Amino acid sequence: MNQLDKIVALAKRRGFVYQTAEIFGGLNGVYDFGHLGTLLKRNIRDAWVQSIFTTNSNILFMEGSILGPYAMWEASGHTKNFSDPMVDCTKCNRRFRADEIDLQASCPVCGNKAWTDVRQFQLMFQTNVGASADSSSIAYLRPETAQSIFVQFKNMMATNRVKIPFGIAQIGKAFRNEITPKQFLFRMREFEQMELEWFCKAEQVDTYFTLWVNSRREFYDHLGIHSDKIKLREHSKDELAHYSARTTDIEYEYPFGWKELEGIADRGDYDLKQHSKYSGKDLMVYDEVSKTSFVPSVVECSVGVDRLFLTLLCDAYTEDTIDGEERTVLKLSPRIAPIKAAVLPLVKKLSEPARKLYNDIAAKGIMVEFDESGSIGKRYRRQDEIGTPLCCTFDFESLDDNAVTMRDRDTTTQERINIEKVIGYIRERI
Ligand code: GAP
Repeated sequence: MNQLDKIVALAKRRGFVYQTAEIFGGLNGVYDFGHLGTLLKRNIRDAWVQSIFTTNSNILFMEGSILGPYAMWEASGHTKNFSDPMVDCTKCNRRFRADEIDLQASCPVCGNKAWTDVRQFQLMFQTNVGASADSSSIAYLRPETAQSIFVQFKNMMATNRVKIPFGIAQIGKAFRNEITPKQFLFRMREFEQMELEWFCKAEQVDTYFTLWVNSRREFYDHLGIHSDKIKLREHSKDELAHYSARTTDIEYEYPFGWKELEGIADRGDYDLKQHSKYSGKDLMVYDEVSKTSFVPSVVECSVGVDRLFLTLLCDAYTEDTIDGEERTVLKLSPRIAPIKAAVLPLVKKLSEPARKLYNDIAAKGIMVEFDESGSIGKRYRRQDEIGTPLCCTFDFESLDDNAVTMRDRDTTTQERINIEKVIGYIRERI
């Protein structure tokens, strides 16, 4: 099994991620998240919000709709430009992204060389809103969250009394009818984005671009991702998105190679100008100093929750040998781990006093698990596999000395501490 397959298997076995509608054969590129997956995603979102807000607190938050009218996506340029080149093999009928395979070579699936012409494939999911299905009812599921930020920019600014420079951040679902969804959560058809649109004057773009690239890069250190597996890559002119004057990707070295984790783009005044032109509404801002109106420029930071989720799993996945026994461990940073501690009574007879400790920890809002079934070794292995940083074992001695054994996930070293100190001990380490 290659490493990605092992991660996919672990994610399912331990209840992080399931295939959507698995009992009906699934839906390609779409996933459901189980209990641990949901907790991990929540921690990712919280960490992102905290990270951008500590970089600059002049940030507003919004939640736009998923459905958007045709006119909006026409103005943004997506109806015309948001497509990927597609090619089919006429022998086996497999479909590929034309920019991902060598068209001079044979089909990697059936070995024939019988390609169709390359066509552009629209990536947005189209639907109709309301009872009539004519062209006036066409709407799209958003392929990026950013557009509702641009369209609501004036309302957000007026109702929150902010001044340029400031940011609007949004976390929400996005949809793309990817030609070849693949590599688990890397390229999905339904996914979630965390996007920050930073509005500033044109002459401030370079300064803020550098600031946000550095801040976003530091975020991944903060999450404990191996530094040598992260690098910055500048887009060449011919790969820039239709709205971007400059893009720097933060790439991660996945088991399938170096790929984009996050993109930071200089969108200039492209989006606001387009929306203003197509809607006929003024989206300019008045500058008190120069007494002139101008269209703000935008620096965008955009990363997928699910792609970061996959990155964290890839980075944390470790196989090692402890005392001659092989184990799999997710070395997630304690601040992002879904479960922070597990309380394990050595035997079922000790469950009652151990549960009291569990209840005390849970009452403090710390994500904690209680597990009383199976051998203690097996229970440690389970917690290792889901990335729980600390296990707290309640044994017979605990009844006499009012102390428990705290076991560290990564080193497996154990330390005896008084029960009264357990909550503080966990808090210090997460
Ligand atoms: N608003 C800019 C934008 O959407 P993008 O590079 O197309 O730019 C930004 O997407 C981020 O969203 C990517 O860096 C990635 O983390 C995530 N993303 C994009 N497409 C995705 C997909 N099909 N599946 C999972 N995540 C995706």
